[in-house]
Amino acid sequence: MLLLSGETSYSTCQMIHKDMIQGFPYQLISELRCTHDGASLQLDQKCQMSEDGTCVRHGTLSCTDCSASFAINDGIVDMLDADALDVESRHEKQLRNETASSQQVTGPAWYENEQNLSEIIPTLEALSVNSGMTMLELGCGDGRYTVQLAGMCKWIVALDFSVESLRILAQRCKNLKNVVLVLGDISSVKVGSAHFDRVFSTLASNLPTREHRQTMYHLATQALKPDGRFVFSAHHHGPRQRLSGEEKSGRYTHGGIYRYNFTVSECNAEVRPYFKFVITRPIQIHLPFARKLPLSIVDQSRFLERIPLLNHFGNLILCTAEHPLCSGEVKRSPLQMHSDYDFEVRGYDSNVTIQDISISESETVAKNDRTPQGH
Ligand SMILES: C[S@@+](CC[C@H](N)C(=O)[O-])C[C@H]1O[C@@H](n2cnc3c(N)ncnc32)[C@H](O)[C@@H]1O
Repeated sequence: MLLLSGETSYSTCQMIHKDMIQGFPYQLISELRCTHDGASLQLDQKCQMSEDGTCVRHGTLSCTDCSASFAINDGIVDMLDADALDVESRHEKQLRNETASSQQVTGPAWYENEQNLSEIIPTLEALSVNSGMTMLELGCGDGRYTVQLAGMCKWIVALDFSVESLRILAQRCKNLKNVVLVLGDISSVKVGSAHFDRVFSTLASNLPTREHRQTMYHLATQALKPDGRFVFSAHHHGPRQRLSGEEKSGRYTHGGIYRYNFTVSECNAEVRPYFKFVITRPIQIHLPFARKLPLSIVDQSRFLERIPLLNHFGNLILCTAEHPLCSGEVKRSPLQMHSDYDFEVRGYDSNVTIQDISISESETVAKNDRTPQGH
């Protein structure tokens, strides 16, 4: 018989072999909620645990209020109602699954090439994670960030609707006991309210509509502690993309996954109603003649992030948002929501009005109080 925690004994639980993945950390069940009514979940007695009794490999989570239940298979909790997905999301899920199932798990998903590093370094800097922090990652994929972040924080809930990507990630997490893997859709998943210090995502560009993205912003505000931070990245529609004739809205390849390219001010404006302080800026900046310069590609990109106008050649946009406004509070209050960075980019972007510029000018006075750390 295996005793899990103080009150409950799980007489039917079995132990698993040492070299299998650890499973779903038992003590983190309290971070998830029923997708139907938002009530808390409990583990059914019949389950298979890790050898030390801390992780669930197979089992079922049941809602404490309704009849809903969610299976845990190989440590991944299944909260996905695949039939409820829209056509575009279903298409992406299928393509992500196909790609992931043809992939070999080769060590940590940490791609040390210049392109990746000039994205990952500023992103981790913006996240500014420490070992006491709790994290929610939306669209974790096969764990390019997750494994690295798990080593930096207290625990991380990693969500994706591609089960094959999560299976790869499960392999990568086999020695970790602080990663919760959830198969789910950002539009329906529910988590503990104000439980997270950081919410992170690189999936915004793949969401098929503005409504999907708004659902993600709302989920982030609801999940974050009042002093928490939401960091996400998206594809940029800057001068480079415009010059090369790239459409704002399209697919990576013919018939492939959908992606939307944002302008900096558009991305900023979309998130602003959900957070009091927002900074949006281009990253991963590679100029055409970059290889001829004496600095490494990564160092050049980091340097160019700070150079107005040139930084608009970035491939990606990085957004850092703080002070979540709870749903009742969501409203536009421009004096509180513009950042000094907005002012920097405004002269460039034709979508911006004179009124916006004057608001930003007055805003720069309080710059030091408002800039999220890590920038
Ligand atoms: C651009 S990939 C990012 C993967 C990983 N975070 C990275 O940076 O390498 C986007 C991921 O989001 C997932 N995704 C897209 N839409 C989703 C949704 N509505 N709910 C959950 N996951 C979603 C995809 O399966 C994919 O793994």
